[in-house]
Amino acid sequence: MDTTAKFAFLQGLGKELYTPAVSVSPSDATTSLLAPPNARGGVGIPLPLGTRRTLASVPFGAAAEATLSPIRRLGGMLHTAFGVLRREPHNIYNDHRAVPSVRSKFPIHAFLLQAGRAWYVDPLRHALVALDGAGPASRAPVRLVLAGRFTDLPNSYQRLRSALLLLELGINLRMAFCAAEVFGFRPALAGIGDEQLARLLGVPPEAGWTPPMIIDLGPEEFTLRDVALPGSRLGVLEPDGIERDAILTEVIRSQDALRAVGEELRGEPGSALPAETGVGKTWAEVLWTRSSGRSPDGVDGFSGRRLRRPEAVLEELRSWASIAPPSALLRKIGAHLSVSVCVQDIDGMPTGVYQLADEPALARADETVMTRISEQFGYPRSPDMDSGMSAATMAWVVHADLSALHGDFGPEAWALAQLCTGWMTQGLCLAAAAHGMYARPARSYDEVTMQTILDLPPAEIPLLMVVVGTSRYREPALGLWT
Ligand SMILES: Cc1cc2nc3c(=O)[nH]c(=O)nc-3n(C[C@H](O)[C@H](O)[C@H](O)COP(=O)(O)O)c2cc1C
Repeated sequence: MDTTAKFAFLQGLGKELYTPAVSVSPSDATTSLLAPPNARGGVGIPLPLGTRRTLASVPFGAAAEATLSPIRRLGGMLHTAFGVLRREPHNIYNDHRAVPSVRSKFPIHAFLLQAGRAWYVDPLRHALVALDGAGPASRAPVRLVLAGRFTDLPNSYQRLRSALLLLELGINLRMAFCAAEVFGFRPALAGIGDEQLARLLGVPPEAGWTPPMIIDLGPEEFTLRDVALPGSRLGVLEPDGIERDAILTEVIRSQDALRAVGEELRGEPGSALPAETGVGKTWAEVLWTRSSGRSPDGVDGFSGRRLRRPEAVLEELRSWASIAPPSALLRKIGAHLSVSVCVQDIDGMPTGVYQLADEPALARADETVMTRISEQFGYPRSPDMDSGMSAATMAWVVHADLSALHGDFGPEAWALAQLCTGWMTQGLCLAAAAHGMYARPARSYDEVTMQTILDLPPAEIPLLMVVVGTSRYREPALGLWT
């Protein structure tokens, strides 16, 4: 078995056999929510106010009218993709954004590039922070870059940090494309950046970053002008207790295959939004309610209640999930991924396991399917842990024959499969929110048991499950975005 295949095995089928169980404590050290050291200065470009109001008049799935100034469009796009902040008073993981993130650690960071200069998108300062101090005002096209920092997830996640960051990269890629389209851009994936770009941004592999992924925002030119920003964060102490353990080194190396893909990942401008949605909500409402599930004070996990839903809900999720990822290479990989959906409480659909091709096809009627998933889910219900698994309406599971994928496409296949899965996941999260439902991505299942429940052949490995349902617990949340 080569190194990449072995690495993938140790995060999949082999995880229970050959690695200690992942056990994470809220007090584990991380760099989460800390701006990178080169992005804490006092100069940059404030993001415009009023994006929320703009989104409150744009139907979910549609683009805003083209009446906004260029800088409001650029700022609105960045704010929509990365700056939606929602505080749930009793959620132990805060704050929440337009995307789900492992324990709200938000390991994916965004940068804006223009003519050799770069800014860090800092949602907490509501600003683009210049990486190199003040520069002259400039007018040129801009590009967006996404990069993930492994130390934002505690060491206790071990090798799983690799899969989780790649999934989140795919999730953020989809959200960035959606936000760009809403604000009138025609985004295109420009590939994986080289070492020079990683150094310009301060995201080299040895500092614990994934390779940078570049999104072209088209030929339109924007005038960017730095001003003094309030509250420089220079002098912030780095957290202590983050060990550079051998597994972190292995995790960083696991990205070499993706790094080598470079411009092969390039794609043409395309749409990340389905043609029709018709749910009658606005983008502001959907982004505000996007959630992985809620639970009461002091309780971890997610609550659930059973609620009968129309078939249109599954259709909506399917149409958002079926938008192809934005590059020919990703689409080739995506064509090798399969989706099974476990369903209960949907009008006209017998409870059981469905295979999703063009139409969902019932593979096996099974009244106990959600209970069976729940019994092996990462955590059962307890006084300090809730699980809505057995009450969930759907469990979407993306799976693939990883050995065949590896054989056909080489060592980068595993990483690219995670990106495709993340891309699809964010589509599911938005579509679920549009119907007032949570969508919870989860890796906390036992691969072999999931194979059995889904009747998958031994070579077919579940890559991610997205649990979709209705929360039992719904306290009001606080909006920290404008
Ligand atoms: C890639 C990924 C993997 C996740 N895995 C799990 C998981 O295994 N178990 C779980 O309960 N939640 C999981 N989550 C959900 C997060 O815990 C959740 O997004 C976070 O608590 C923030 O809540 P929010 O999405 O409601 O904002 C995962 C999220 C992501 C993005």
